[in-house]
Amino acid sequence: MKKRVVIAIDGPAGSGKSTIARLVAKKLKILYVDSGAIYRAYTLQYLREGIKLEDQKALSAFLERLTINLENEKTSTQVFVNGENVSREIRSSEVTASVSSISENTSIRDRVTRKLRIETEHNSVVMDGRDIGTVVFPDAELKIFLTASIDERARRRKKELKSPGVETDFGKIKNDIQRRDKHDSERNLAPLQKPDAAILLDTTNLTIDECVDFIVKKAIGLEKSV
Ligand code: CDP
Repeated sequence: MKKRVVIAIDGPAGSGKSTIARLVAKKLKILYVDSGAIYRAYTLQYLREGIKLEDQKALSAFLERLTINLENEKTSTQVFVNGENVSREIRSSEVTASVSSISENTSIRDRVTRKLRIETEHNSVVMDGRDIGTVVFPDAELKIFLTASIDERARRRKKELKSPGVETDFGKIKNDIQRRDKHDSERNLAPLQKPDAAILLDTTNLTIDECVDFIVKKAIGLEKSV
């Protein structure tokens, strides 16, 4: 891409965001950032340290001393907290159960939003999450909102989760997803919602390649129209 372009991909859990966003970035040869992985890393460390959201002083000190880095590999993002690789731990059921309520905190959200903006300011980027097209990059050149039926999303998540300590019962996964969607959509701060200008893409009956090609074509069209 010749000029800096931001592609924001938002949507509920299991809608295919990360897989699709990563492949779009690869095809366009631009950066990919998984914002959910950052919220998960904060949540993991928060739980480990037993911080309380109500204790503003302890929370600020916690946020100050935490360094989170993402490193993209071919098919995955490696996540580091203070140099420790926590890529597996951030997918545990404990983190998944708490991430929605912890990422609702203003101090945490402000910090993550700032980090996402600063670290990508000189690059074209594909970023996926819940509030990328609404809050992080409201001026993104291309906004996509991915959805899929709840059963399809639970099926995909079950397939994805094969590590020890991770919930793999279909009914439980489906409930967890529904609970998290509800929490993410109903919170006051940066709720999950389709940004006004976003293209809605229902991925229930689409292959990954079909979704990726659709978004890549839109992105290339964007460049031609400038
Ligand atoms: O991959 P999955 O759909 O399970 O979720 P994720 O992208 O790893 O995000 C985990 C959680 O982080 C979400 O359920 C949200 O509560 C929170 N999140 C957020 O609040 N804002 C974002 N931009 C990304 C994630």
